[in-house]
Amino acid sequence: MKILGIESSCDETAAAVVEDGAHILSNEIASQVEIHARYGGVVPEVASRQHLLAIIPIIEQAIDKALTPWNEIDAIAVTQGPGLAGSLLVGVSVAKSIAYARNIRLIGVNHLEGHIYANWLADTAPEFPLLCLIVSGGHTDLICMRQHGEYTMLGHTMDDAAGEAFDKAARILGLGYPGGPAIDKAAQQGQPCLALPYPWMSGTHNFSFSGIKTALYRMAEEGKIGNTNDAAASFQHTVVSILVSKTIAAATECGAKQILLSGGVAANRLLRQRLCQDSPIPVITPHPVLCTDNAAMIAACGYFRQQAGAKSGLDMDVIPSLQLA
Ligand code: KG4
Ligand code: ZN
Repeated sequence: MKILGIESSCDETAAAVVEDGAHILSNEIASQVEIHARYGGVVPEVASRQHLLAIIPIIEQAIDKALTPWNEIDAIAVTQGPGLAGSLLVGVSVAKSIAYARNIRLIGVNHLEGHIYANWLADTAPEFPLLCLIVSGGHTDLICMRQHGEYTMLGHTMDDAAGEAFDKAARILGLGYPGGPAIDKAAQQGQPCLALPYPWMSGTHNFSFSGIKTALYRMAEEGKIGNTNDAAASFQHTVVSILVSKTIAAATECGAKQILLSGGVAANRLLRQRLCQDSPIPVITPHPVLCTDNAAMIAACGYFRQQAGAKSGLDMDVIPSLQLA
């Protein structure tokens, strides 16, 4: 079964063709990062206008690269939420039009569930029960997944998401946007020698990152940051240590066989390395391109959702604050 995936929830316009939820035939991404970089963050109105310009060319590109004629596309999976309303509307409207014109199944996909399904695009399929750590620009969630579509939320962030914290810390350090990759790069040249707070949120699987960012801000204000690379390494070391320890504790509690890492921050080199090194159970990490927003993960998720009977009507609306569990 070949599914066309469409993703437009934030600042990437993406389209992909995936066969049987596992084999990527094409995975095309039009990034708006350079456009938003001059504002230091995503400007929603600019994002939706860019999606409008990019969506048709990127879908045509995905179909061409997949060497798949339109009549071999069996269904369309599209991100329904969470995300920016204006951005989501572009992908959903185009997906509905194609589904109507070609009379094929339409499947609305939760973007967070899509991030989890990036892990089904690797060589071996994950084994349930699984502990999923989703770390993106908007979310930091620890989820126990017992079966396809069966999620229990164990913990989440009480304030900033991990990616948001990386982006804000990078701004404080003058490292530019997007902050995650900039901190990842700067940290390679530094030592984690600054003492930053270590918010543990005792007795819960929850996170709190805003205090670490505020401490960094104060140090910068007071001129206590001598070396930017050391500050980046210290911030990254603290956030990654908390993510790794909490993830392993949650995996033990849910009796997971494997840990799945997903979301943009899952591209972070230290996080991948430390989690694989410290975890007593196998850790699956998608290729970095499949960690940040893409449409292959949406198509993969759409495949398993349709296996479970999911089908969206042409009256499907976007849900900017859609929850997973
Ligand atoms: O999943 P994603 O592409 O979009 C959302 O759904 O939010 O995640 C974007 C986030 C941004 O905050 C970005 O700074 C962060 O992922 N990110 C990283 C890295 N690459 C992207 N954070 C840390 N290290 C990275 N290498
Ligand atoms: Zn995302």
